[in-house]
Amino acid sequence: MLEKDAKKLIRELNDKIFYHKDLYFNQNKTEISDYEFDNLVYQLESLEKRFPHLKEEKSATNSVGASVQKKGLKHNFPMLSLLNTYSREDLQKFYSRVCKLTGQTEIETFCEVKIDGVAVSILYKKGKLTRALTRGDGMYGENIFNNILQIDDIPKNIPMTEDLEIRGEVFISKTKFKELNEKKKKLGEELWANARNLASATIKLLDINTIRKRHPSFIPYSLFIKNDKIKNQSEIIAFLKEWGFFLPNHYMKATNFEEIFSFTKIIEKKRKDFDFESDGLVVKVNSFALQKKIGETNQSPKWAIAYKYKPKSAFSKLKKVVFQVGRTGAVNPIAIFKPVRINGSLIQKASLHNSDYIEKLDLCENDIIEVEKGGEVIPQIINIDKLKREKDFKKVDFPQLCPSCGSTLKKEEKILYCVNHDNCLEQQKSKIKHFVSKEAMDIFSLGEKKIDLLVEKKLISHSKDLYKLNFNSLKNVPGFSTVSIKTILKEIEKSKQKGLEYFLFAQGIKHIGINTAKILAKTFKSIENIKNISKEEFEKVESIGEKVSTGLFNFFQNPKIKNDLLEYKNLNLNMTYKEDDYDDTDNTFFGKIVTISGTFPNITRSQLIQKIEKQGGKIINSISKKVDIFLVGKNPTPHKIEKAKKLEIEMQDYLPDEILSFYET
Ligand code: IVH
Repeated sequence: MLEKDAKKLIRELNDKIFYHKDLYFNQNKTEISDYEFDNLVYQLESLEKRFPHLKEEKSATNSVGASVQKKGLKHNFPMLSLLNTYSREDLQKFYSRVCKLTGQTEIETFCEVKIDGVAVSILYKKGKLTRALTRGDGMYGENIFNNILQIDDIPKNIPMTEDLEIRGEVFISKTKFKELNEKKKKLGEELWANARNLASATIKLLDINTIRKRHPSFIPYSLFIKNDKIKNQSEIIAFLKEWGFFLPNHYMKATNFEEIFSFTKIIEKKRKDFDFESDGLVVKVNSFALQKKIGETNQSPKWAIAYKYKPKSAFSKLKKVVFQVGRTGAVNPIAIFKPVRINGSLIQKASLHNSDYIEKLDLCENDIIEVEKGGEVIPQIINIDKLKREKDFKKVDFPQLCPSCGSTLKKEEKILYCVNHDNCLEQQKSKIKHFVSKEAMDIFSLGEKKIDLLVEKKLISHSKDLYKLNFNSLKNVPGFSTVSIKTILKEIEKSKQKGLEYFLFAQGIKHIGINTAKILAKTFKSIENIKNISKEEFEKVESIGEKVSTGLFNFFQNPKIKNDLLEYKNLNLNMTYKEDDYDDTDNTFFGKIVTISGTFPNITRSQLIQKIEKQGGKIINSISKKVDIFLVGKNPTPHKIEKAKKLEIEMQDYLPDEILSFYET
């Protein structure tokens, strides 16, 4: 691999990993399985090993967890994570490594069930529970003390005089999860995708009654105490049990590798009967003295490893393949199959990527398919059971004409494209949806359905048309109230000042993600400059290869684009780079939609709004499903609180920096 390609791939992998970390740790969501995520990390690590000088300063391989949304409290010492493995071979390598590092041929390990929940740290002072934090970014966690008090599994007092810290996993039992989802189903509400996401959302809630109703549980796995009497991990577990903590029934002290491996097999069979989700085992060197000798990296101890089971899959029957037109004109095949439940969520659709993918699988309609999912939203078809293929199987018919506008499709690098870019309704809709999206021009009130309607009514056919809308043109459109029209027009107006990087990303140019758009904006400063950049000059920009530079050059040379840019200029869009527009160092609220209510200590309402916006957040006045964070001050509006509770929106109290230092005792 060429160095230039490696650099680009490293950037892409970093972006992807940070994106999924943020989803997982901050938003309680997952789009890919742990297995796929670990694969991304593995790829990045391998590249960084091969090209150490290309490793980014803020590499995703250097970070544990994700940055805390709310500035948190400092952990007494970092809350590390674990190395993951999925194979016997890698587990064996770990075992050989720890033996070698201790100069032994065999080593005693302690094997524990790995609980799939949310890591928390709790402190006891003189035997009394006094503090609880989430993992956060490993250095700072969120204060969740009041919430932890609601967990009956956590004793409020323990018979110890020395101060100590316990770390463990908060989770929602399978029984409780099922019960909660059944209730949601009866109410016709959207179900929780999995118990882990529910645990993560629950532990950060402000409303104590809702926490109690969800009945979170806790299993500890580490104990930190200044006490020379405890000499190994197995003794820790014995102490925790004695103090009344709830622990799994299965632990194993293994004296050699074969014993470890047979334990992985036993647990793999038994885990379906546990009343908590378990995604594998944790194998730890038992002796603390040997753990110390082996040491740790910035992210994880070298004396422990997580052995994880590969993601779960299920079988279903493929009903049909439909084709969807995206914003670049790419016609994407989507598999529609009989709904199956995997890991608690019902799924019936999977992306099939391109024709090659379908051909490689030899996928036919009515086939019995194996669908894989690990909590993610986009499931994959990993296999087909050809033995079960019946007479009704049908080869997938690839369209020759665009399913939206009927024009002839072109194939480019395995992908079918509708090249009728300007007049294809689906493309118009997708392009405008991308333009208004949160990461682009952020015209938040213009939801997908509204855009569909405006395009179908021919009020808009291109993003630039948004800036020509006015009250009169919208007032008779069904579903557009006076209030919503005013909000939409206000947001459209505000978007004119978003700046170059967002405007560039909003154009939907192939291969230009927000990070590349930022680099381009920082480098060239204005659209006037970018318009005149040659292919070669684009290529000189860090992490831009030949394909991207050609794409960029062709895009800006296109006479229609030139004309659009002129129109945007006449419509008063600011297409320059604003150097100190946002706070790069603190992006606590980045990409979050925030509602605030009540008064806050040491900060006025307008100062707070300014601060949140500077940190990448967006303020809206009313509580709705779209809100990510509800900041609650003193004397908040009661009906807002009620609504936020009903919609289960994350509520946070706002702690200004001055107050934080007071909490950090
Ligand atoms: S030991 C230095 N033991 O899994 C970290 N972790 O994927 C030591 N986990 O960060 C952790 N069950 O949050 C340990 N029996 C167990 C565990 C466990 C679940 C979590 C923990 C850890 C994550 C790593």
